[in-house]
Amino acid sequence: MWIRAVLIAVLVCLLILLFLKLLQSWKKYPPGPPMLLSAVKIVQCGFRIHPDILVETAKQYGSIFTIWGASQPLVILSGFEAVKEGLIKHSEIFSGRPVTPFYKAIAKEKGIVFSNGHTWKQQRKFGLVTLRKLGLGKKGVENQIQEEAQQLVETFARAKGQPIDPSIPIINSVSNVICALVFGHRYSVDDEEFLKLIKAIENGVKFGGTFFHLLYEVIPGIMKYISWPYKTVFGAADVVLSHARKETENHRKQPAQHDPRDFIDYYLLQMEKSKNDPTSTYDDENLAQCISDLFVAGTDTTSATLQWGLLLMMTHPDIQEKIQKEIEDAFGSSQLISYQDRKKAPYTFATIHEIQRFKCILLAGNPRETVQDVNILGSFIPKGTTIVPDVHSVCYDPKLWETPQKFNPNHFLDKDGQFVDREELLLFGAGARVCVGKEMAKIELFIFFTNLLRAFTFKLPEGVKEVNTEPVLGLTMPPHHYKLCAIARPSNS
Ligand code: HEM
Repeated sequence: MWIRAVLIAVLVCLLILLFLKLLQSWKKYPPGPPMLLSAVKIVQCGFRIHPDILVETAKQYGSIFTIWGASQPLVILSGFEAVKEGLIKHSEIFSGRPVTPFYKAIAKEKGIVFSNGHTWKQQRKFGLVTLRKLGLGKKGVENQIQEEAQQLVETFARAKGQPIDPSIPIINSVSNVICALVFGHRYSVDDEEFLKLIKAIENGVKFGGTFFHLLYEVIPGIMKYISWPYKTVFGAADVVLSHARKETENHRKQPAQHDPRDFIDYYLLQMEKSKNDPTSTYDDENLAQCISDLFVAGTDTTSATLQWGLLLMMTHPDIQEKIQKEIEDAFGSSQLISYQDRKKAPYTFATIHEIQRFKCILLAGNPRETVQDVNILGSFIPKGTTIVPDVHSVCYDPKLWETPQKFNPNHFLDKDGQFVDREELLLFGAGARVCVGKEMAKIELFIFFTNLLRAFTFKLPEGVKEVNTEPVLGLTMPPHHYKLCAIARPSNS
């Protein structure tokens, strides 16, 4: 009871503090609801900005508006035109990442996701080039994904059609792809260290947007007074970073010389090459944070999409059947499926895109920051403003999609049944900071999904009539835990 009273008191003080602090700069930003109203709405939504609230506010204030977040104004870009105008047309100006007190404490402005300026440019470029190189060699990323997809099929097969929760096997397989890429080896699903890493990612992602997260953003010194709410999340960051450092030391003991095997090898060679370059940002701290970035950004997103995919197959058996027929006609029951083969399976490929649109796993796109003053679509936005691209509003815009509220793979097919790529699907972000793992994620989704649907028909457990299709609100939005029965298909039994 007293804890609740203290929390309410802290909250009221914070609101007054924010009101005074922000009143001064109110006029500089695009219009929007008054600060107190924004705060009340955020509190009502459990401290997360619910996508419906943003759409509602856009109806009143237009496609570029301001709401008041933890300790600062957030300018929301709502709808495709505004997001495109900002992220693509003014790509460089919108290329900053706001590093709030909490993320500063976690990532120290190192790596790719939470860095800016010269460090970001150098680390991002290196990440992109290296991922491309690792995708090429004989045992490239695609082979690794095929191997993991096979392991996942075997894991599901071991359940022999009995109900299982698919989330852990999917997360294990997806994160193992990153492990192979970054560390040069995979982990068995019961490896304790591996399970610790997976748990750490889960704890880190779950913390984003909670009350204590927001409290830290407003009072960064809060940990001096109450540290317990932060132990798990800072511990989680430490688990991932310590693991990255340990793997790096192992690589140092067995240097790659001329034939780098994985991301760490490439990075260590780059460090050596640029050791006399005063502008170099290649160092141990940036390496550890890059590893953590790839690991966290690459695990949660892809696995949430796959979990939604299987759930939607159970609730749309007609679509599942159509996909299985297409896969069977294109690849038979044993041919190795590669990403290049997507052209032979346009309906399946369109369905994967529709899963991404319909279950839009990001609450809002990752925030950006303007690096100079800018005018877009008649709105002035000052330098240093936090920008939130409302990807959700684009995914459900009735002007863009024939049946926005209905799961419909035809959104990505032309009248001849051929796949149509739509620039309005902005799930990977856009412009200068577009997702570094976009190509890899697309390969993963295609290969995992086709292999699973070739091997099994996914059904709800007997007696279960309905499954919760609401997302869990967090940094990403996976489904609630559910159980499925993976029934082996005749040619695979
Ligand atoms: C379905 C899977 C994925 C989705 C939906 C996704 C989505 C995103 C989004 C929306 C952003 C922010 C872009 C922006 O600021 O506009 C992002 C950034 C990023 N993603 Fe992904 N991602 C996925 C998979 C991956 C994978 C597999 C990797 C790693 C191999 C990865 C690595 C990164 C990194 C490093 C960034 C930071 C880029 C920067 O700040 O410059 N992502 N991702």
